Amino acid sequence: MPFPKLTHLQSRVAATLAATLLLVILYLVLLSPRFAYAVEVVLPGDHHCHLQIQADSEIVNEVQCTPELNDYWDEPDEDRDGEGGEDENESWESAVIARAPAGLISLGNNQFQQSNIKIGETQWWVFPKETVTGPKSPSMSGLPAYLGASNMPAHDQYISHELKRRDSSSSEGLAKRSTTVYISLTTCLKPSLNTTSSSGVTLPQLEVYVSLDESLQKPGPGINSTVLQTYQADGGYMNATVEATGDVYISVAAPNSTSFSGIYNYELAASIDGYFHQVDTLQPFLFFIDSDVGSALLVTDNVTQSASNSTNYKEWMDITPPYTIFVSNTNDSSIQGLERSYCALNQLAQIGKGKNGVEVGMTNWGLGKKPKEQFYVTGLNRSSTYYGFLAMDGNSTNSGNGVIGGGGKVWQGMNFTTKAEVAYAVPSNTSVNISALGKTYDSNAINSYTNFSNSLQQIQCNTSPESIYSLAVDCNDCASAYRKWLCAVTIPRCYDFSSSLPFLQPRNAGQAFLNGTEIPVDDPLRTSPITNASRNPIIDTQIKPGPYKELLPCQDLCYDLVRTCPSALQFNCPKGPWLNASYGVRDPNSDITCSYLGADYYLNSAWSFHGRTHVLLYTVAVFWVLWTS
Ligand SMILES: *[C@@H]1O[C@H](CO)[C@@H](O)[C@H](O)[C@H]1NC(C)=O
Ligand SMILES: *[C@@H]1O[C@H](CO)[C@@H](O)[C@H](O)[C@H]1NC(C)=O
Ligand SMILES: *[C@@H]1O[C@H](CO)[C@@H](O)[C@H](O)[C@H]1NC(C)=O
Ligand SMILES: *[C@@H]1O[C@H](CO)[C@@H](O)[C@H](O)[C@H]1NC(C)=O
Ligand SMILES: *[C@@H]1O[C@H](CO)[C@@H](O)[C@H](O)[C@H]1NC(C)=O
Ligand SMILES: *[C@@H]1O[C@H](CO)[C@@H](O)[C@H](O)[C@H]1NC(C)=O
Ligand SMILES: *[C@@H]1O[C@H](CO)[C@@H](O)[C@H](O)[C@H]1NC(C)=O
Ligand SMILES: *[C@@H]1O[C@H](CO)[C@@H](O)[C@H](O)[C@H]1NC(C)=O
Ligand SMILES: *[C@@H]1O[C@H](CO)[C@@H](O)[C@H](O)[C@H]1NC(C)=O
Ligand SMILES: *[C@@H]1O[C@H](CO)[C@@H](O)[C@H](O)[C@H]1NC(C)=O
Ligand SMILES: *[C@@H]1O[C@H](CO)[C@@H](O)[C@H](O)[C@H]1NC(C)=O
Ligand SMILES: *[C@@H]1O[C@H](CO)[C@@H](O)[C@H](O)[C@H]1NC(C)=O
Repeated sequence: MPFPKLTHLQSRVAATLAATLLLVILYLVLLSPRFAYAVEVVLPGDHHCHLQIQADSEIVNEVQCTPELNDYWDEPDEDRDGEGGEDENESWESAVIARAPAGLISLGNNQFQQSNIKIGETQWWVFPKETVTGPKSPSMSGLPAYLGASNMPAHDQYISHELKRRDSSSSEGLAKRSTTVYISLTTCLKPSLNTTSSSGVTLPQLEVYVSLDESLQKPGPGINSTVLQTYQADGGYMNATVEATGDVYISVAAPNSTSFSGIYNYELAASIDGYFHQVDTLQPFLFFIDSDVGSALLVTDNVTQSASNSTNYKEWMDITPPYTIFVSNTNDSSIQGLERSYCALNQLAQIGKGKNGVEVGMTNWGLGKKPKEQFYVTGLNRSSTYYGFLAMDGNSTNSGNGVIGGGGKVWQGMNFTTKAEVAYAVPSNTSVNISALGKTYDSNAINSYTNFSNSLQQIQCNTSPESIYSLAVDCNDCASAYRKWLCAVTIPRCYDFSSSLPFLQPRNAGQAFLNGTEIPVDDPLRTSPITNASRNPIIDTQIKPGPYKELLPCQDLCYDLVRTCPSALQFNCPKGPWLNASYGVRDPNSDITCSYLGADYYLNSAWSFHGRTHVLLYTVAVFWVLWTS
């Protein structure tokens, strides 16, 4: 069950609920001596068994799911561990803070705890011996495998590493009996800056202190001890592993600072199965494809390299999209210092899961036609730079307490910029809405395709091999070449008119710009029929985008069409200057200098983009799916 992530407002509600539940507990405490026992502080080393309590009543089970009781049952028949003292007359926020110094609050396996902490304060937790030595959780099914290359995504690397580790620990482990404990922390809220200028002020990150020694049960700042291990969060995230045989004492400290005031809120979890919260700091695993003035299209890297007829490929294509995305303006400071924290991004990112503005889907378009997840992000401002973070909610199918990796995962952030001018990736006009725009282009292309299809049927395609026009190619190849050519020609890829890239062709110069300005009548752009109008008259008459620049379709699309289609269809490519005015040439360095469907983006060997590359936005995504399915 997902645990409530408390914002300030929500914590009000939680506090009220908490107070009510506390009264219930209090009532039960007074009635039941066993319960009174449960509310005592259980010091490390104690082995109280509170088995009965759980079975006692539904209320208790419900209380278990609120932040009041800071302990959980790992297994229905296992021990229940330590307990903090309760201040029944206080809200949950202050209750946690107040009782922390008095005792240690225990952490359950894969059960996160959420707490507020004031600047300068330290809070103490314990991951008890019984849990450390307890049984591991059954292994999960996991996502379909990543097959076929050396650059495995981090989550698979992690899982296989994990499996190896478990194998080895099960053989050697008996002698040593030490268990790897995975400790992770994410900062969900940060204190506020109490100066107006934020320049040069960085958020002090939470500190985590770990001790495995009974002699140091309350590790923390200012303690000089050899058994103390110190960690500091980075971007609101901290992870650590320790080899433990007994209680693991963990403390969280909020460093003193004069520049900030207020509280932090954090999630802390410990596990013997794997990290509850995860990050991938090495790669964004996310690529920017294209944007217009208000939306952007991004994709993950290939999630598998396996062949399109394999089961693995099919599994990936059929999966419920496992990833999510968070997007925030780079000058929105609310996520600054918390970029690696799932709970922070989930609450503070401007666009993300649970908010409007992201459509997701599995797709196989792009280089290699491998499965990947695509994100269509809307609600962006023009000419603005955004951070994009790929993330996973819990383990992708389940999140929250009891789930291995239930705290989610965040990848390294990347950034992208939306376009400045009112020029879509396809020629457009502000007064035409995006779906009408898509329909105009699609129906135009589909009409052309229907005409072509009819003509193709006149040719003897599905007859005996002897009467087929060529042995090397057939009508399916022709149809496929025609679709590729048609997409590139009827839905031109558009750049801002101001772009000075040499391979772009100005179009529609005869029309006024959207702001009313016109290009002078005697300008060469207007005297040449090539630049004065669009290739496709429907664009000028129905969409009226004003002047724009076209990324010309690649010459080979035309040559392929001529080569694969029956000569009876009489396709021909233009020659001389007309060829260069209508078609572009592929760059030998494979930068995108001409348009071809499926070659949506270009990756250089260093895994980053080299130059701006373009696909048609949404329209063609739909179009492509229609025609390749
Ligand atoms: C809370 O209860 C304690 C005793 O348990 C009492 O001393 C304190 O005044 C109470 N605080 C409030 C705000 O009622
Ligand atoms: C903050 O300063 C106080 C007083 O100097 C000290 O007791 C406390 O340990 C400090 N807190 C942290 C987290 O360093
Ligand atoms: C996520 O966790 C749940 C419960 O722990 C498990 O049933 C499910 O298979 C896991 N999903 C994946 C993709 O590992
Ligand atoms: C910690 O203790 C060691 C030896 O006891 C000493 O050399 C060192 O200076 C101490 N460090 C601090 C910060 O007190
Ligand atoms: C920030 O606020 C705290 C108390 O709210 C104050 O002590 C401190 O001086 C302030 N710092 C600055 C730089 O204004
Ligand atoms: C642990 O944190 C480091 C960076 O602090 C990160 O590189 C690594 O991927 C994290 N491990 C997991 C499993 O998230
Ligand atoms: C998939 O197709 C390739 C050739 O395209 C073939 O060699 C392979 O046997 C096929 N695999 C399956 C599982 O059908
Ligand atoms: C995906 O795989 C194809 C080849 O299979 C490769 O060309 C491409 O660079 C890979 N990465 C992305 C992000 O498309
Ligand atoms: C868009 O700009 C407005 C005004 O500057 C700002 O308030 C808003 O947060 C921005 N939205 C996004 C998603 O960047
Ligand atoms: C955000 O950045 C843009 C430039 O990218 C700037 O024009 C705008 O004023 C900034 N907004 C805020 C609120 O700082
Ligand atoms: C965006 O990313 C590029 C490189 O990937 C980096 O140089 C640039 O500083 C980033 N911009 C922002 C606003 O973070
Ligand atoms: C109108 O827009 C065009 C292209 O965006 C620009 O070159 C021109 O200066 C603008 N005219 C006015 C009056 O803003």
